[in-house]
Amino acid sequence: MRILSTSTEDLKICSDLLKNGETVAIPTETVYGLAANALKSEAVEKIFLAKGRPADNPLIVHISDISSFSEYCYPTDEAYALAEKFWPGPLTVILPKKDVIPAIVSAGLDTVAIRMPSHPTARKIIENCGFPLAAPSANISGKPSPTRAEHVISDMENNPYVSAVVNGGPCECGVESTVVSLTGEHPCLLRPGAVTVEQLKEVLPDLTVAEAVLQSLPENEKALSPGLKHKHYAPDAETVCLCGSTESAVGYIERHKDGRKTTVICFEGEENCFCDCKTIVYGSPDKPETLAENVFDALRKADVSGCEKIYVRCAPPKGTALAVYNRLLRASNFCVINTEEET
Ligand code: TXA
Ligand code: MG
Repeated sequence: MRILSTSTEDLKICSDLLKNGETVAIPTETVYGLAANALKSEAVEKIFLAKGRPADNPLIVHISDISSFSEYCYPTDEAYALAEKFWPGPLTVILPKKDVIPAIVSAGLDTVAIRMPSHPTARKIIENCGFPLAAPSANISGKPSPTRAEHVISDMENNPYVSAVVNGGPCECGVESTVVSLTGEHPCLLRPGAVTVEQLKEVLPDLTVAEAVLQSLPENEKALSPGLKHKHYAPDAETVCLCGSTESAVGYIERHKDGRKTTVICFEGEENCFCDCKTIVYGSPDKPETLAENVFDALRKADVSGCEKIYVRCAPPKGTALAVYNRLLRASNFCVINTEEET
């Protein structure tokens, strides 16, 4: 796997690889994506092989200008209203798909996910290519999403299906795009992200929120978005989310000591509160964007530290913190404890 910079020459190499049907990990404002030509099945197949991604989990198609939006799907008035307000940026919309998008991209569904990223490097690469890029997060399926080039390298270094990574530094948002389906009776939030429910409701007053956003689905229930049902973001160590005050979290951890090497992913100001535990600060609940920016990096750091148990402090699931909470629910396999209630 080659490591490329964001220089004009390296971005030319990147688009040549993509034109040649290869996959390249590229930075976006949300997370790193593993990109391939969205119009070529054989290229897209390499993404699934590289990630070990289940074939029933569809990919997002990335475009660089609004004029190509209607080439790949049938946009509605609501879709254009969202595009006008939030594109380029961390929002994905699901719409009925046109036939140019191969079935492998949409996992056989008759809908397709489209997004126009705001990251200048991602946009430049799509423009150079002249075709849209299918790109899921560039991690091995099930692992925390990559928000730094080093995360991609750690997952994909010797992967025969990945030709290069473009190092664009850390990603600004740190969590994947907000996903909204416009194919049902009412618009529906399938995945929370940096574009918040509150912001979406200004354009879509009748927005609903899929149950799976905050809850685990029963085994046999059909998910609106296949991505909601797969295991996700999980570090190797057992992970438990703790909601509540610092004091009550300290008490909980103290009462549940079991001799295992423990890391606490905590808020700013809490780093000296948990005796006998290693701590990783990931941001402040007053500034939930900082939590989003660092959450995946913190989960990966905790794993690398070789601990046997991870506690993560959770902020109330509002605004941007809803996206963080949604990822932590999955990272912990829905193990969430309210330390205020636990006795
Ligand atoms: O921020 C992002 O969205 C990043 C960057 C690289 O753009 N990409 C990303 O892709 O997170 P991925 O594949 O990790 O997540 C795509 C999500 C999955 O949950 C998938 O199931 C859902 O979007 N999805 C894609 N197409 C869909 C469709 N036609 N219907 C319902 N859900 C769909
Ligand atoms: Mg992903």
